[in-house]
Amino acid sequence: AQPLIVAIDGPAGAGKSTVAKLVAGSLGVPYLDTGALYRALALFLDARGIPPVECDALYSALQEVSLEITEKEILLEGKNVGAEIRTPRIDTVVSAYASLPMVRNRLLDLQREQGKRKGLVADGRDMATVVFPDARVKIFLTASDEERARRRFLELRERKENARYEDVLEQIRERDRADSSRSTAPLRKADDAVELSTDGLTIGEVTGSVLALVREIL
Ligand code: C5P
Repeated sequence: AQPLIVAIDGPAGAGKSTVAKLVAGSLGVPYLDTGALYRALALFLDARGIPPVECDALYSALQEVSLEITEKEILLEGKNVGAEIRTPRIDTVVSAYASLPMVRNRLLDLQREQGKRKGLVADGRDMATVVFPDARVKIFLTASDEERARRRFLELRERKENARYEDVLEQIRERDRADSSRSTAPLRKADDAVELSTDGLTIGEVTGSVLALVREIL
């Protein structure tokens, strides 16, 4: 049989990665955080001062950059950048890079490769629409803007990052606008995806609903 692929898409802060990790653990398959890949490329390009408009410089940088993922780490030029990719700076610049076909193509095979042996639970923006269109389970996870901003805000505070709730809310809206309106692989629910709103639900409840959907098809 084909390895099991569970595709989870949705806007920023909907709880995708928390839920996807728990679902993967429960099913005993690897978890793939595709946002981390876009963040790592954004970190690399931003640090080198290559803006999203400089096609030639972008092209050569994308050819030479080394990006690897293991079960636990994301390695950029051989170095684990798990913490560096989750800063307000990367939150601000990532969508512009992620809108470029050149950047998305650089990551396509890398993402598909991960699911080949043992299957996976993957989260992102275009899992069900572009990267894994044949995924057996497709979920579109949402929550209200305010709820998503509140979660991000609390997460930032926990990491001792200074942030105002209003700024976090505006930034989340801006990132969703950018991700939904780009022409290549925009954020949208796949026609055959199940939409789950997580407003007012606990992580355990959402994870349970996703697992129930998986068990239905197994
Ligand atoms: O999921 P996360 O918030 O870490 O994603 C960071 C950014 O990476 C998104 O705002 C989006 O611009 C981009 N992304 C994407 N396609 C994916 C995953 C992430 O364009 N599959």
